[in-house]
Amino acid sequence: MTDKTAPFSGRVAIVTGGGGNIGLATALRLAADGAAIALVDMDADKLASARKEITDKGGRAGTYCLDITDADDVGKTVDQIVSDFGGVDFLFNNAGYQGAFTPVPNYPEDDFQKVMMINVCGAFSVLQAVARHMVKRGFGRIVNTASMAGVEGPPNMAAYGTSKFAVVGMTQVAAKDLAPHNIRVNAISPGLIGPGYMWDRQVELQAKAGSQYFSDDPEKVAKEMIAGVPMRRYGSLEEIAGVVAFLLGEDSNYMTGVNLPISGGII
Ligand SMILES: NC(=O)c1ccc[n+]([C@@H]2O[C@H](COP(=O)([O-])OP(=O)(O)OC[C@H]3O[C@@H](n4cnc5c(N)ncnc54)[C@H](O)[C@@H]3O)[C@@H](O)[C@H]2O)c1
Repeated sequence: MTDKTAPFSGRVAIVTGGGGNIGLATALRLAADGAAIALVDMDADKLASARKEITDKGGRAGTYCLDITDADDVGKTVDQIVSDFGGVDFLFNNAGYQGAFTPVPNYPEDDFQKVMMINVCGAFSVLQAVARHMVKRGFGRIVNTASMAGVEGPPNMAAYGTSKFAVVGMTQVAAKDLAPHNIRVNAISPGLIGPGYMWDRQVELQAKAGSQYFSDDPEKVAKEMIAGVPMRRYGSLEEIAGVVAFLLGEDSNYMTGVNLPISGGII
């Protein structure tokens, strides 16, 4: 991956949730396109294996174990990344947590706060810390991971839906504030990505939630959900990575403040 003609050759990308499914798939794509990757995650084991996957394929990656809800640590870690890599061009602001599946009257308050702390406050801390460096250089490309749950509120997911609508709002505000500094900020909204990953957890927990919207049989829930997707299929991790690469790259230079749904369907 020392190909100087690769589209992201010489670029440095921070990927949060870089040990997770979407983060790693996207980090692999960006590394294949020539970027050096700073993988950020709170799970040290996942980080180590993600780094190995990238370097085994010839890419460059560093790992940074961080809980993004600690704003002080976020600032220090981003400073460290900038010092290690000589700057930061791209941010894939992607770490997230799905929370509980419970109708509003019984939704656990502590879980609501945890989801908001990670998906909103943590994502904002990362965006802010990285944007400060990008402003100094007059260049930056940011993609936030929202969700179809931030496009249409899903049943039983009060915290997650609220948090992902907030990510879309954060994207629109940041796009306006950062445009004068040549920093573009967009969002992606993955829908039904699977089979496997968060999808399996979601189907299991929606079946257990006991609402009028889903069957209590996870297999039926899966079929009902896919029936709501126009193309009648899941999206894949690689398809998400492709959309992120598009939003970070020059082919989308006219776009900022946009939220791109992936794979449709109401969660
Ligand atoms: N998979 C889907 O179907 C789907 C759909 C829509 C949106 N999303 C969003 O995509 C993003 C990635 O999800 P995924 O499917 O790869 O899930 P995942 O669980 O595989 O990855 C999430 C990663 O974020 C990390 N993380 C969680 N809290 C953190 C914290 N406080 N500090 C640092 N790291 C933390 C986890 O350790 C994990 O590695 C999330 O924001 C999620 O909400 C996923």
